[in-house]
Amino acid sequence: MDIDTDHRTDEPLRFAYWVPNVSGGLVTSTIEQRTDWGYDYNVRLARTAEANGFDYALSQIRYMASYGADHQHEATSFSLALGLATERLKVIAAVHPGLWQPAVLAKWIATADHLTGGRIAVNVVSGWLKDEFTSMGEPWLEHDERYRRTNEFIRVLREIWTAGDGGAEFRGDFYRVHGFDLKPKPVEVPGRPHPEIFQGGNSTAARRNGGTVSDWYFSNGKDYDGFSEQVHEVLGHAATAPRLRPVRFGLNGFMIARDAEREAHETLREIIAKANRPAVEGFRAAVQQAGNATGDGRGMWADSEFDDLVQYNDGFRTRLIGTPEQIADRAIGYKRRGANLLLLGFLHFQEEVEYFGAKVLPIIREKEAELARARQHATV
Ligand SMILES: Cc1cc2nc3c(=O)[nH]c(=O)nc-3n(C[C@H](O)[C@H](O)[C@H](O)COP(=O)(O)O)c2cc1C
Repeated sequence: MDIDTDHRTDEPLRFAYWVPNVSGGLVTSTIEQRTDWGYDYNVRLARTAEANGFDYALSQIRYMASYGADHQHEATSFSLALGLATERLKVIAAVHPGLWQPAVLAKWIATADHLTGGRIAVNVVSGWLKDEFTSMGEPWLEHDERYRRTNEFIRVLREIWTAGDGGAEFRGDFYRVHGFDLKPKPVEVPGRPHPEIFQGGNSTAARRNGGTVSDWYFSNGKDYDGFSEQVHEVLGHAATAPRLRPVRFGLNGFMIARDAEREAHETLREIIAKANRPAVEGFRAAVQQAGNATGDGRGMWADSEFDDLVQYNDGFRTRLIGTPEQIADRAIGYKRRGANLLLLGFLHFQEEVEYFGAKVLPIIREKEAELARARQHATV
């Protein structure tokens, strides 16, 4: 079952957290959530996160109310602010092709990269909320066309960030760039050819893009089999493409870590029992534009049940729920299946990020060391 990824999973497992830059928290439920979407709370959280083992913070992009997220801060500006308020944390901003012009974004990111000392990244998301596009007067492309546009978008970013003398050249169906000479280029960071490009989306088209053009493939919450199945397919695509770096995998999970297992499961039950039903149902209707809008019916939310959707990225499915020891075992299970990064959401971010750093992470690191020893032993 271990995935043979010498260059990938021998690295320590990385952790990212969802920046709560939209109101309503990470679950669509009336349960108390001691989480705030405002700036001051988020600055304190980012500093706490980098002191508690988190390498990355992912800001969501949402332009309009949906699933209870009635208020939203924009992702690129919010990420930059968090980058400036921290010292080591890498900040990832979600961006939509179709709403951003890629050359403008490339320039924006290059500047933000200098301001943060090489700590900005993008999560390219192809979109599922049709109303966001149509209410801005932008066309809503059919699902796989959105991914064809995303593919070009990512290639344009990379071309602009790495082009030599004479500037960037690109001719595609969606984008054209001619002699665009970006100065300054992004910061030179050892092992990083350009700012990292993550991609969210799990359909067949998303997997192809993940393997061929993205640096990171982000999976929605999944059980072991659901995650492994994607890893194998994406690695298959990666083997066919010239890549600057091997593809890496991030997995979403909603973590409920408590001293007692029963308490963790009680919390999950309460979140679901108090679900905001109309908001979850509205969300379920809107996300039919994702995986379910494809010919093969594969992709995000294609088989999600009501309970899954209460965490809007299927985060309960990853089952990072229980005691620190149980969660550490689960995290190692995903690492063995190819995960390089766990993207975490919490009910009460500030206090649970601290709990993670104090109680969960040390056990994960111990178990990683055991795993490394066992692998070394197996190869001698
Ligand atoms: C980790 C992750 C983060 C995402 N963040 C956003 C986001 O901030 N805004 C957004 O509109 N979509 C976001 N998406 C969803 C993407 O827009 C995705 O392309 C869309 O749901 C279609 O997915 P599909 O390829 O499975 O059909 C995210 C997806 C993942 C996996």
